[in-house]
Amino acid sequence: MHINRVSRNKGTVIFVLAIACFAASATARAAQATDSHVKQTNSSAASERNWWKNAVIYEVYPRSFQDTNGDGIGDLKGITQHLEYLQKLGVDALWLTPVYPSPNADFGYDIADYRDISPEYGSLDDFNELVAEAKKRNIRVVMDMVMNHTSDESSWFVQSKSSRTDPYRDWYMWHDGKGQTADSQGQPPNNWGVFGRSSWEWDPNTRQYYYHHFSVHQPDLNWYNPAIKQEFKDIVGYWLKLGVAGFRFDAIETLFEDKNLKDEPIALDKDGKPVLGPQGQPRLERTEEEDLPKVHAVMQEMRAHMDTFNANAFPGTRVLIGEIFSRSSDELSQWYGTPKTPEFELPMEMRVAFVNKLDVSEFRERLIEAETKLDNNVPLLVFDNHDQPRMDVRYGDGVHDVAIQRVLSTILFTSGGASLMYYGDEIGMKTTPPTRKEDVKDRMTGLAGWPRFKGRDGERTPMQWNDSQNAGFTTGAPWLPVPPTASTVNVKAEEGKPDSLLEWYRALIHLKKTTPALERGTNTMLDSKNAQVLSWIRDAPGAPAVLVSLNFTADTQTVSLAGAEIGAKQKLQTLLKSPGGSDPSGPDHIELAPFGVYVGQLR
Ligand code: NOJ
Repeated sequence: MHINRVSRNKGTVIFVLAIACFAASATARAAQATDSHVKQTNSSAASERNWWKNAVIYEVYPRSFQDTNGDGIGDLKGITQHLEYLQKLGVDALWLTPVYPSPNADFGYDIADYRDISPEYGSLDDFNELVAEAKKRNIRVVMDMVMNHTSDESSWFVQSKSSRTDPYRDWYMWHDGKGQTADSQGQPPNNWGVFGRSSWEWDPNTRQYYYHHFSVHQPDLNWYNPAIKQEFKDIVGYWLKLGVAGFRFDAIETLFEDKNLKDEPIALDKDGKPVLGPQGQPRLERTEEEDLPKVHAVMQEMRAHMDTFNANAFPGTRVLIGEIFSRSSDELSQWYGTPKTPEFELPMEMRVAFVNKLDVSEFRERLIEAETKLDNNVPLLVFDNHDQPRMDVRYGDGVHDVAIQRVLSTILFTSGGASLMYYGDEIGMKTTPPTRKEDVKDRMTGLAGWPRFKGRDGERTPMQWNDSQNAGFTTGAPWLPVPPTASTVNVKAEEGKPDSLLEWYRALIHLKKTTPALERGTNTMLDSKNAQVLSWIRDAPGAPAVLVSLNFTADTQTVSLAGAEIGAKQKLQTLLKSPGGSDPSGPDHIELAPFGVYVGQLR
């Protein structure tokens, strides 16, 4: 640290006094300067360390972002090419879905080699270039890490499957069948499975079953074997040394299964009747295959391990983002760990965004929970990802989809915590599933469910950059068709157009980053009985409060929000509003257009 030094002069008394006075004030100034320098250094160190707390994280589906070599598949160079775009959007970190070598039974979530880049996406050099170029723009790169299972083509599994005595045999979950004899495989070891399909696969060669929570091509690792944890600590370290800013741990709730292979009970509804699946089979609980307490000890160890890499490469905490599907905030809060034994910084908060209907009171209730019931931990709100139909399907009415997305994105970026967005949300890309079964690429989920469930291709279509052929995504044949909406819904068409969704996202993210009350405030819901309009005030000490009001209906709504929570602050200054919306002079009369949004600062 640099410290200013003040020299001391000698001479006549006056001179000495003068000098002393000067010196005293110079010392004071120097002390102040030093103090503020220390403070600044401390606060910038703190803000580096805490970068994730108010972060905007952008999920890239690399296969669909930008192709640069004409093979119809997006690649790492393509992401590097668009870093400026992402910087302008205000993104702090990119989460890349898996880019490791994979036979693509589940498009990368079946990893064959954890220490390399799939040639489809480029090379390790391309990866290093992406991290370095992103860093220049203050954008961090977060990798996906799949620890529950590997590909069946991973060399670990190939060896494991080769014989019962192979050193890798115990890396996976191999068991004899029930009633197995020398001539018969018997039945799978227990009832684990989904809707009548067993999660056990028979291997005729070594005559045992292996367990796979997901597809047969994704055998589960045996986390009771300590070698697995050691291996993943090493893999995590490998990528941290290459400068990644953290990981999104996939399917983390399913890491451990009951060691005694206890049968799952049949799920019962509130009347005690079995819950039936699409084909009428009883649904099973997941009590023996998910959320086993052992996973928390592993996470604590991983977290501590991550911290040992903090000294080099990208500054600030290396984050752990968790794929968590919690049923309550109590469940979710367990994934943060405790201050002494931390686990995830950002386990995903999927309860708010997956209300899946425009129901004001549900949203209000879940937002209050995210804010108050997570033991002061930071929620990571998530509206869209590569596994769910986009917002247009879950919330749109086909007429006001863009306006509705303004409402939802305002929730995402003006609530407390970090925000996770999915590529293409910012331009309003629409879910576009295949129309013919033979076109399905996500065979793992798209074929079994057809036609009721068409798989996940619809939310993974190529990014729409412009209105040229293939939307500027590729010069070749795109791996998934470019949606017809690309001619009007694209970056080029929306860039610089004040009323476009893209400019709306940019403005919202800018507000999130620059408005103290949004950065560090707390929410108080207003007008809490209103079933049409969701409103809250976000307050932080020493900063003007921000008022947010969202119309959840297709009718014009007027709200009066003056009251005890707002107190004497009666003047409103608009920060952001839906196109054509009015500027209220005070909180007592806010008029909102159909699905209109108003965000203003209270004075
Ligand atoms: C969750 C991922 O998001 C999904 O795409 C994948 O199929 C499963 N985990 C299995 O890895």
